[in-house]
Amino acid sequence: MRVVRAEHLTKIYGHRFNRVAALNDLSFGVDDGEFVGIMGPSGAGKSTLLNMLATIDTPTSGEVWVAGSALSAMNEAQAAAYRRTQLGFIFQEYNLLPDLTVAANITLPQTFVPPRPKDLDERLAHVAQTLGLERLLGRYPDQLSAGQRQRVTAARAVLGKPSLILADEPTGSLDSMAATELLSYLTRLNLEEDVTILMVTHDAFTASFCNRIIFIRDGAYFAEVTRHGTRQAFFNSIIDMEATINGGGRHRATAD
Ligand SMILES: Nc1ncnc2c1ncn2[C@@H]1O[C@H](COP(=O)(O)OP(=O)(O)OP(=O)(O)O)[C@@H](O)[C@H]1O
Ligand SMILES: [Mg+2]
Repeated sequence: MRVVRAEHLTKIYGHRFNRVAALNDLSFGVDDGEFVGIMGPSGAGKSTLLNMLATIDTPTSGEVWVAGSALSAMNEAQAAAYRRTQLGFIFQEYNLLPDLTVAANITLPQTFVPPRPKDLDERLAHVAQTLGLERLLGRYPDQLSAGQRQRVTAARAVLGKPSLILADEPTGSLDSMAATELLSYLTRLNLEEDVTILMVTHDAFTASFCNRIIFIRDGAYFAEVTRHGTRQAFFNSIIDMEATINGGGRHRATAD
């Protein structure tokens, strides 16, 4: 099943002489259970795209479907319900509340609107175990490392069993060991919890944990690379595609 379908997405900022097409007729799809990376040069439209999917911003034209619903057809209350029930967010800033414990931070979105889900404690225990947070649930955010905080954000994102996780540079503030750890956990969520993930990154190492990378340039679809073999081989083809996207021509490649 298609979890995301973007069709002819265009986003124009400004008008007349300072008109910018942040997205320019961009179409793509993401299937249930995929772990997809979005890459492209600075200014390519990656954050703009994520904002459309998150209903933070609306396209000038085109349509996005997530889990079968057209986002443009939603009113504000429906969009809020969509964000709460279908989406999980992992952004670079953690957005954790300092006065709440790790456990309370993870469950916050589920307890915000009553009723409290019956299986919440079970679900929390399970997610904490998957993300290696069991022994940290009683701590406060300022008693955690950056990598641990990022894993708390990931736990919060998956607790409500979203159809889709949106991640924007989730490893941006982590050292390579903490990044590797978070990415291994994301891979585990993807495989074991069957969560579909769409992750923006500028980093080929981070991207190599995905199954497929969609490259965009100047707001338009440029190419994609799908993983077939080892992560190392995939990493190499991502690097090759980055060279191509920075060097010119349109091009399609695979990792085998
Ligand atoms: N609110 C805005 N008003 C005007 N132009 C904007 C606005 N937001 C983004 N843009 C422009 O749209 C284009 C795409 O921006 P976007 O932030 O999506 O890029 P990006 O791919 O996320 O880049 P980066 O890798 O640097 O984060 C850029 O040219 C940017 O200047
Ligand atoms: Mg950006």
